[in-house]
Amino acid sequence: VKSSGGKLDVAVLAATGMVGQRYVSMLSSHPYFRVTRVTGQSSVGKRYGDSVSGYGLHISDEALDLEVQGTRPESLGEVDLVFSPLPTDIAKTVEPKLARAGFKVITDASPHRMDRHVPLIVPEVNPGHLGVLASQRKDGWKGLLVSTPNCTAAGLALVLKPIHDKLTLRRVIVSTLQAVSGAGYPGVPSLDILDNVIPYIKDEEEKVETEPLKMLGALDGSVVTPARFEISAMVHRVATTDGHLESLYIETEEDFEPEEVARLLSTFKGEPQKLGLPTAPLQPIIVTAAEGRPQPRLDRYAGSVPGMSAVVGRIRRGLDRKSGRLTLLSHNTIRGAAGSTILTAELMYRKGLL
Ligand SMILES: NC(=O)c1ccc[n+]([C@@H]2O[C@H](COP(=O)([O-])OP(=O)(O)OC[C@H]3O[C@@H](n4cnc5c(N)ncnc54)[C@H](OP(=O)(O)O)[C@@H]3O)[C@@H](O)[C@H]2O)c1
Repeated sequence: VKSSGGKLDVAVLAATGMVGQRYVSMLSSHPYFRVTRVTGQSSVGKRYGDSVSGYGLHISDEALDLEVQGTRPESLGEVDLVFSPLPTDIAKTVEPKLARAGFKVITDASPHRMDRHVPLIVPEVNPGHLGVLASQRKDGWKGLLVSTPNCTAAGLALVLKPIHDKLTLRRVIVSTLQAVSGAGYPGVPSLDILDNVIPYIKDEEEKVETEPLKMLGALDGSVVTPARFEISAMVHRVATTDGHLESLYIETEEDFEPEEVARLLSTFKGEPQKLGLPTAPLQPIIVTAAEGRPQPRLDRYAGSVPGMSAVVGRIRRGLDRKSGRLTLLSHNTIRGAAGSTILTAELMYRKGLL
């Protein structure tokens, strides 16, 4: 492991994008990691500070002065870790190539999330699934590839985890209201989204319906068997900037009280909390009883690490004693991308995997 000032050197790919800027901002004074390489496409050769969109995030002077590189292995130098929020089509070919060549890559992109030999991780949900990496080593990969889920699936899996641990889920029906930053920069044209709601996001429903089942599945050796309940998703793009809101209807095999679900969620802690990882919020799920909450503008930065806690409210009974309803909010570029991925990297660092 190469280190500078006791920290691991990391590259952020697609660093000028919506998620890339979140990474560079969140890593600005990180205790384990230091950004030494940033990559892009149209901005290659420019100063990073002159290539970011003005999304308004705090970024260190050291990072602002980096020169944007291309994404070829030669341009990455000898970094210890690669964060990859690459566009889908590029990630598909570039990421396995980097991992086979010896780079340790953690990705927010979708192409490899459901691959049998790639762990799909939310650190509070399924840290043990890092055991899937054994199958990459068996295939002779010199590096490794770990995926983090779709931004909506991340919040959903986190909130379902404590319920799934205690009750037998049968069906989950979810309807979403998703922020425009989920589409990247510049994203959805303003004239399409202002004063409007779009009841379609390409390929999103399939991801929301499958990824949580992999994350909540059981690991046997290095193979994950998906959880057996069903998820039905209906997604909508709305004119909020950050924070995806999800309305859930859950059905279980057993009778349960809504208060029991509230208690399961608010007392839940995962391995990152037990280890005290730097980006772990004290409470991964915050339950509110306040009327009309959670709301994106009011609640997306709630908790001890802004953007890392899901906020859940309106927990109530469904049509019978085996069903319930709730609303959850989770920040799409933090808990749904850069923040969760940095937390995964912190977990891997503490487990000696980096
Ligand atoms: N936004 C979210 O909430 C979210 C959440 C979870 C996962 N994701 C995933 O994260 C990835 C990035 O999303 P985003 O929202 O950050 O997108 P974005 O704002 O549109 O940014 C795209 C980035 O990709 C770079 N790029 C474009 N073409 C490239 C190429 N051929 N080779 C290398 N880099 C290239 C761009 O560099 P230049 O600026 O230099 O051209 C820019 O940095 C996607 O796979 C997305 O699905 C996004």
